[in-house]
Amino acid sequence: MTHDSSPGTNRLPCPRLLVAITGSVHVLVVPQHLDAFRRSFADEIRVIMTEAATHLCSPRALEAMVGSPIPSDLWSGTGPGHVELTQWADCFVVVPTTANCLAKVAQGLADDLVTTAIVAAPGPVVFAPAMNRHMWETAPVQRNIAQIRRDGHLVVEPRPALSLASGRDDEALGPATDDVLAYMWHATMRRRRDAYWQQATADAPVAPSGAEPRRTVALGSRDQPVELRSRASA
Ligand SMILES: Cc1cc2nc3c(=O)[nH]c(=O)nc-3n(C[C@H](O)[C@H](O)[C@H](O)COP(=O)(O)O)c2cc1C
Repeated sequence: MTHDSSPGTNRLPCPRLLVAITGSVHVLVVPQHLDAFRRSFADEIRVIMTEAATHLCSPRALEAMVGSPIPSDLWSGTGPGHVELTQWADCFVVVPTTANCLAKVAQGLADDLVTTAIVAAPGPVVFAPAMNRHMWETAPVQRNIAQIRRDGHLVVEPRPALSLASGRDDEALGPATDDVLAYMWHATMRRRRDAYWQQATADAPVAPSGAEPRRTVALGSRDQPVELRSRASA
C-alpha cells in the first residue's frame, strides 16, 4: 500500500503508518479501517499481526490489500524486524486491540512480534480496543488502560458495535474508524511538535567559551515544557 513518499510529494498527513492487528473478532472490520487510512491518512502502510489474529483473519487476504507481506512471527528472520519497523513508522496504531494485548502492554511484556514492537516504539502508540462490553468494564481492563495512558500512549474510547459473534448490538464495543483517525492525527502532530522542539534545542545559540551558559525555558507545550540549553552547558 504505497504512494510516492519521496520528500515533497506526500499528499497525506502521515508518510509511514504501522498497523498492528490483535486477535479480536473485529479483525473483520480491519479492511474498512485500512481503506480509510490509505485514503485520508497515510502514504505507506505496513501491517503486522499476532498469532491469534491470524486465526480470525488470513494474512493473505489483507496482504492483497496492503501489497506487502504481513509478518506475525518474531522469529521468522525474514522481512524487517520489530525495531526496524517501529523506527520506520511515523505513526503506530494497534487496531483492534484485545484485552490480552492491553494487559501485556500495561506490564511491559514483549513476547511476540506485536508486543515487542510496542515496547520498542520510540513514540506514543495508539490503541483501539475492541471487546465484549463485560470484558471492557472489568477492573483489570480499566486498570491496564489507565496504566497505558499514564505511560504516554493514546487509547481510543470504543463505541457500541454489532457483535460479530452473536449478532447482538448491545454486547460488543469496538473502535469507529473516524475516532481512530482522530487519535492518529493527534499522535502524528504531537510527534512533529516534539521533533520541532528537539531541533530547536539542538539549534540553540552556543555560549561564548568561558561565559556562564544562559538557560532559557521555552514553552514547548502546556504539558511538556522544553528547556533550551546552550551547547556549552550540555
Ligand atoms: C472468535 C473469537 C473472538 C474473540 N474476540 C475478542 C475480542 O473482540 N476482544 C478480545 O479482547 N479478545 C477476543 N478474543 C480472545 C483473544 O483472541 C485471546 O485473548 C487471545 O489470546 C488474544 O491474543 P493477542 O492479544 O495476542 O492477539 C476472541 C477469541 C475468539 C476465539
